[in-house]
Amino acid sequence: MAGEEPITMLTAYDAPTAVILEDADVDIALVGDSVGNVTLGYETTLPVTVDELASHVGAVARATEETLVVADLPFLSYGVDEAQSIENAGRMLKEEGAQAVKLESGPHTVELTEKLTQLGIPVMAHLGLTPQHVNRYGGYPRQGTEQAAAERILDLARAHEDAGAFALVLEHVPSNLAADVTDALEIPTIGIGAGPDCDGQVLVFNDAVGLSEWTPSFSKQFGDVRGEMERAVDDYVEAVEGETFPADEHAHEEGGLEDLY
Ligand code: KIV
Repeated sequence: MAGEEPITMLTAYDAPTAVILEDADVDIALVGDSVGNVTLGYETTLPVTVDELASHVGAVARATEETLVVADLPFLSYGVDEAQSIENAGRMLKEEGAQAVKLESGPHTVELTEKLTQLGIPVMAHLGLTPQHVNRYGGYPRQGTEQAAAERILDLARAHEDAGAFALVLEHVPSNLAADVTDALEIPTIGIGAGPDCDGQVLVFNDAVGLSEWTPSFSKQFGDVRGEMERAVDDYVEAVEGETFPADEHAHEEGGLEDLY
């Protein structure tokens, strides 16, 4: 995609955030399963259910017109049984209004990617660090740092492109590997912790705006939303306790009402 403007993607989990993304001309709103640790209070993404994810996808899709809405598929909601995988992926488009799904990819998702694509469900692949494998990795380590592992990522990227994936997320891999994969593929790569040479970038919304308590080293805070929210809540508590809120302009008295008590 040399010469083209990089693709912008951010996660979104609710309608107000989706509107902010659309107004800022963000290309893609990813309703990530990161909703689990970012907003639902889970320690990992593993407990997120299809129903939970679907409800957030619906909220984002209803609030957007131009932005491409991509729905993540939760852990074990795909790749176990083909019919179930298709039903779960299809639900995100048919009932919730997403335009595509994202799968954390591996050798087990090549055929599924082809099947979904044939059925009219566009698939965004995801390689490198795939957080649904946290228990296999024992954490969230960088991926593709050894030659054999880097080659496996490139091979899988090619296999998913051949299977019909329309884009590929590359997470937490060396930037030179991401650059090689980007050069090798026709479809766009979208990086997170993968350096500057991908065709686009994605961040978790709460990390990007400075709402998260903790952010990974590869992320950047472009604002201090947490600080602003804390300030507003402190001011609210102070105003209620100090009886300066509600003031006259926030209330109205109805002249026609007789005293009831
Ligand atoms: O779930 C998510 O938010 C993601 C992005 C970090 C790519 O998969």
